Amino acid sequence: MNILAFETSCDETAAAVVADGRAVRSSVVLSQADMHALYGGVVPEIASRRHMEAMAPLAEQALREAGLARAEIDAVAVTHAPGLIGALLVGVNFAKGAALALQKPLIPVHHIRGHLAAGYLAYPDLMPPFAALVASGGHTLLLDVRDYTDIVVAGSTCDDAAGETFDKVARALGLPYPGGAALEALAASGRGDAYRLPRPKGGDNPLDMSFSGLKTAVLQVINRAAQKGEPLDRAGLAASFTRTVAEILAGRTVQAAEVLGRSAVVLAGGVAANGTLRAALGAALAAVGRTLYVPPPALCGDNAAMIAAQAFYEWRAGRTAGMDLNGYANASAAM
Ligand code: KG4
Ligand code: ZN
Repeated sequence: MNILAFETSCDETAAAVVADGRAVRSSVVLSQADMHALYGGVVPEIASRRHMEAMAPLAEQALREAGLARAEIDAVAVTHAPGLIGALLVGVNFAKGAALALQKPLIPVHHIRGHLAAGYLAYPDLMPPFAALVASGGHTLLLDVRDYTDIVVAGSTCDDAAGETFDKVARALGLPYPGGAALEALAASGRGDAYRLPRPKGGDNPLDMSFSGLKTAVLQVINRAAQKGEPLDRAGLAASFTRTVAEILAGRTVQAAEVLGRSAVVLAGGVAANGTLRAALGAALAAVGRTLYVPPPALCGDNAAMIAAQAFYEWRAGRTAGMDLNGYANASAAM
């Protein structure tokens, strides 16, 4: 079953064709990051407009690169939640038009479920149940993936998302948006023990996390150095911050795997591209006899192949939509 999927929830316009949830026939991603970098973050209206310009040509490109005729597409999928609402609506409306024109089913996909499905693309034998950590710009979630479409939230951040924290710290260090990758590059030349930073706990749920106190502590280090006119070890601070986030996430994820009784753990979302986090979580899980599954960095950030992959399982579960499908800025991954 060939699924043509679209993703426009934030600042990447993406289209892809995936066969049977596993084989990527084509995947094209157009990032708007350079444009939003001028403003230090995503400007929603600009994102919507750029999606609208890019969507149709990207769809054509995805079909062309897949080497498939329109008649060979069996269903159309789209991210319908969560994300920037104006951005989501561009993709949803385009997908409706495509489904109508092709006379094929329309499959709505939750963005976080899509991130999880990047694991199915990277590991052909991976199947639920497993525990998962999804860390992106907007979410930090520990999930129990009981089945492809039966997903329960076991823990989450109480305040900022991990990716958001990377972006804010990067900005304070004078790095361009989006900050995660730039901060990782800066951290490569620093020592992870250069600064001692706090590891705030989450709320009452032992699987919850918190990052705003850590972010504030890093900003204080930067401000204090500026006020005193002292030199700042930027690379050391970036490395210490990264190590702290990686340790918090790895610790909670190991706890989640144990509480949920899952031997396999999937790491996904944009922050999963971070080498320090990948290594820390891999080692922490191996130490307790559990296995980490993490997609290659190119599949961690937003793309449409992961949406097409999850769409196959949503379709198998009968979760298609009518032409009245809407987009939602907020929606639980357990929906
Ligand atoms: O999943 P994603 O592409 O988009 C959302 O759904 O939000 O995640 C984007 C987030 C951004 O906050 C970005 O800074 C972060 O992922 N990110 C990273 C790295 N690459 C991207 N964070 C840490 N290290 C990286 N190498
Ligand atoms: Zn994402």
